[in-house]
Amino acid sequence: MKVIVCQNYQHLSDYAKDKVIEVINSKEKPVLGLATGSTPEGMYQALIEAYKDNKVSFKNVTTFNLDEYIGLKKEDPNSYQHFMDEHFFNHVDIDQSETYLPPGNTSDHQQACLDYEKNMHQHDDIDLQVLGVGINGHIGFNEPGTDFDTRTHVIELDASTREANARFFDSLDEVPTHAITMGIATIMESKQIILMASGDSKKEAVKRLMEGDITPDFPASVLHRHPHVTVVLDREAASLLT
Ligand code: F6R
Repeated sequence: MKVIVCQNYQHLSDYAKDKVIEVINSKEKPVLGLATGSTPEGMYQALIEAYKDNKVSFKNVTTFNLDEYIGLKKEDPNSYQHFMDEHFFNHVDIDQSETYLPPGNTSDHQQACLDYEKNMHQHDDIDLQVLGVGINGHIGFNEPGTDFDTRTHVIELDASTREANARFFDSLDEVPTHAITMGIATIMESKQIILMASGDSKKEAVKRLMEGDITPDFPASVLHRHPHVTVVLDREAASLLT
């Protein structure tokens, strides 16, 4: 696991942006795995700027997002589809029919999970998976206790995850209780992974990630078993590392 400590959030975002562009430019039909949340917002902004400066095109890129809340319509301002449209897809030349998120608003979520996996297998493996990390160590929405061999599945969100994400909703009660997430085995099949963590609130999780045991109690720890992972931190997130 390679660890990069950046001066600040802007540098972290630029590092991730450069990595995404490097992967896109190395392949004819690149496949990216994408995350939502506060952490990658700066990276998406930097990618949009690079696109506007003609430094990258997303024309041939396919994307698969990690997760989606169950029960929110696509156009709901808190859906991850809406997040991706607003923060990225609507601002670049990506073919939107090649951007995929797990559907959070279908009648059969189990079937939706199988279909999502099938769709991924019909494409090449993910060339670069972008990850954030939860304060409880979740990756995607794989909460503590999730088996390492899981594939795309429905998960009940931890109380701590719902509380952390309540900042985007009018009240905690409105935060969905369940989500569809790529599984840990799905994530581990990516050829390369970049995990970003920023800010003081992530410092304990980062310490446990870097210095703790590999255990389903802290899902991000599985990344030590992947051959090509870069952990990109800002100084605050790295502040407890010895
Ligand atoms: C989002 C996702 C989550 C977030 C994590 C950190 O698609 O999969 O694992 O990466 O909850 O969220 P932020 O970046 O908001 O701190």
